[in-house]
Amino acid sequence: MKILVTGGAGFIGSAVIRHLIAAGDAVVNLDKLTYAATPEALEDAAESPRYAFAKVDICDGPAVRAVFAEHRPDAVMHLAAESHVDRSIDDAADFIQTNVVGTYRLLEVATAYWRALEGAAKDAFRFHHISTDEVFGALGAEGLFTEETPYRPNSPYSASKAASDHFVRAWHKTYGLPVVTSNCSNNYGLYQFPEKLIPLMIINALTEKPLPVYGKGENVRDWLHVEDHARALVAVLTRGRVGETYNVGGDSEMRNIDVVGMICDLVDALSPRGSGKGSRRDLITFVTDRPGHDLRYAVDAAKIARELDWRPQETFASGLEKTVAWYLDRRDWWQGILERRYQGERLGLSKSTKAG
Ligand code: NAD
Ligand code: TYD
Repeated sequence: MKILVTGGAGFIGSAVIRHLIAAGDAVVNLDKLTYAATPEALEDAAESPRYAFAKVDICDGPAVRAVFAEHRPDAVMHLAAESHVDRSIDDAADFIQTNVVGTYRLLEVATAYWRALEGAAKDAFRFHHISTDEVFGALGAEGLFTEETPYRPNSPYSASKAASDHFVRAWHKTYGLPVVTSNCSNNYGLYQFPEKLIPLMIINALTEKPLPVYGKGENVRDWLHVEDHARALVAVLTRGRVGETYNVGGDSEMRNIDVVGMICDLVDALSPRGSGKGSRRDLITFVTDRPGHDLRYAVDAAKIARELDWRPQETFASGLEKTVAWYLDRRDWWQGILERRYQGERLGLSKSTKAG
């Protein structure tokens, strides 16, 4: 199969591409290469004759159309997005542009392309929209997000993803485009940009910087290793029922403060601090909470388990240990980012501070 992957140079997209290339599929990676892109994650995959790359913005309809015309994909996996909640709080413009307008442009091009297909190619074509559990809003202490949970996005990021989910649904209902959508919980693993909780904490712990925990650290996320997510996405693309949505989660609920504590212990074990110094837990610093901070996310992944026989292979403990070891090993990768693109500064407070 030849699959057009948007956002394939990102954290999850690159894991998907590595997976597809290893499985023998052909891939066209359509990516604008924003600050978040990590082409290093594709160095091996890019050597395959089954890999092609197009530096294109999904908002640029004619350029996207040209990629479809040149490569004639059998399916689309749409991951390109602005993905960081804190940046969306500082400025939502790029989120609306890429996540909403960009998804609309892609839907327009994909629908015209699909309509012109014939026979088996038309029947088999799929548009897989990759989304987040954050569209469902925040849970209290109890309950899980199911596919039936009403949408209640709270951040500019989740609102833009919710809008894109609705457009994808509408293009299926109105124009018949064969879509599948998946809504996944928080991912972690190799090549995650250090603005997100887990890589930021690993790098700060290694470099003896404060570990900024928002509020009291009691917010809960349901963590899934990125390689497990990549496997889930391939299952949804190839075996998901058209028009359906699938929730994907790790069944690994953790409070932020406990995640950060585990990271400190793993970093201490793998890179001891030297005599006289205690645990890196003493670097934990409680800081001003994120505005509109969702209390808890937790996903009921029973539908994808039942229908597509997918379950996570990694526990949070095993996946986190591998992840910490990877960041220790790949200082070259994240030091390059710290030097040129992001120095770990606090994001997501500027507008709320100004307004206050
Ligand atoms: P990421 O920020 O690491 O990567 C996004 C990629 O999209 C980058 O390579 C970037 O260059 C590209 N991109 C951004 N704007 C573009 C545009 N206008 N045109 C073309 N390419 C563009 O994101 P990620 O964490 O890999 O997330 C991928 C997808 O999965 C997103 O749609 C996100 O909403 C969703 N998701 C992420 C998580 C998570 O925990 N990271 C969880 C659930 C769902
Ligand atoms: P993040 O990785 O930004 O993912 P999301 O907001 O999409 O869930 O944050 C995960 C959790 O960690 C979230 O509750 C916010 C919190 N957090 C901190 O406490 N400190 C930080 O420096 C960051 C980046 C996040």
